[in-house]
Amino acid sequence: MLTDTSSSTNVDAPVTIDNFEIKEEDLPAFEDMPFEDIEELPLEHPGAKDPEYRKRRDYIASLAKNFRETGVITDVDYTEEEQGVWRHVAGELEELHQKHASPFYLKAKKHLGISNDRIPQLTEMNRRLNELTGFRLAPIEGLVNTRSFLTWLSWRTMLSTQYIRHHSRPGYTPEPDIVHEAMGHIPMFTNEAFADYSQFIGLGARIATDEQIEQLGRLYWFTVEFGLVEAEGEIKAYGAGVLSSFKEMKHAFSDDVERRPFDLEQVINHEYTYSDIQPVLYVVPSYKFLKEETRRFIETFGN
Ligand SMILES: [Fe+2]
Repeated sequence: MLTDTSSSTNVDAPVTIDNFEIKEEDLPAFEDMPFEDIEELPLEHPGAKDPEYRKRRDYIASLAKNFRETGVITDVDYTEEEQGVWRHVAGELEELHQKHASPFYLKAKKHLGISNDRIPQLTEMNRRLNELTGFRLAPIEGLVNTRSFLTWLSWRTMLSTQYIRHHSRPGYTPEPDIVHEAMGHIPMFTNEAFADYSQFIGLGARIATDEQIEQLGRLYWFTVEFGLVEAEGEIKAYGAGVLSSFKEMKHAFSDDVERRPFDLEQVINHEYTYSDIQPVLYVVPSYKFLKEETRRFIETFGN
């Protein structure tokens, strides 16, 4: 049992650690969540000096604001140029995925109907996710602070951007975009153990001290973003930061990376630099293992 002490979540009742079924009425109102930390387009963004791109990005971001008022996800009518960016990245990643992506991820992508040919819509992925593991997607217009972002996972909800990176550099984005979300994150939420694990991180975030939030952030980084897993006697990728980037994918399986067995103590104390390519990655034996290790970890919170 965890007791929620956060004032920003609108939840007064204690939350149980085995409540994996989040009903519509359990969700806090999206409009009540503090999103004031959402960042503007940073200057080093490849689209920062392209007024057309900025206008388009602002428009797609406005759909996310709309969602918070109405609760309705709006499909984006992606342009041919945007579709081209998706096809380029998906095509480039295809061979690496077949070789190095976790078998679960590859199956999940198919189950969600994510293809290399067109950008998938949040509405269709959301529907399917909900049927499979009760996870939800909620559109967001940019990066939010760690506690807010992770807290939503406690309601089996992932905040997801809808816009796409700038066409001048399809292999790069300094911020999450629909490629990172749909090609990286979303398929893994169809895995029951992974979905429960994500929810545990969220439950932890609701009662964590500032130091524990940092630790949860590192755990998230080395698993959800950069995680590797043992599968069929091999090491495979399941982290979104790896799966959605040609450069990271190649790097993760090169001799330049130390691939260590996952150790919770080590991971939560492992400081990393956000913009650096990762010299150390951690390999979990299974998603269930990750879930149970994390359950034990967050059960120590608040004591
Ligand atoms: Fe991410």
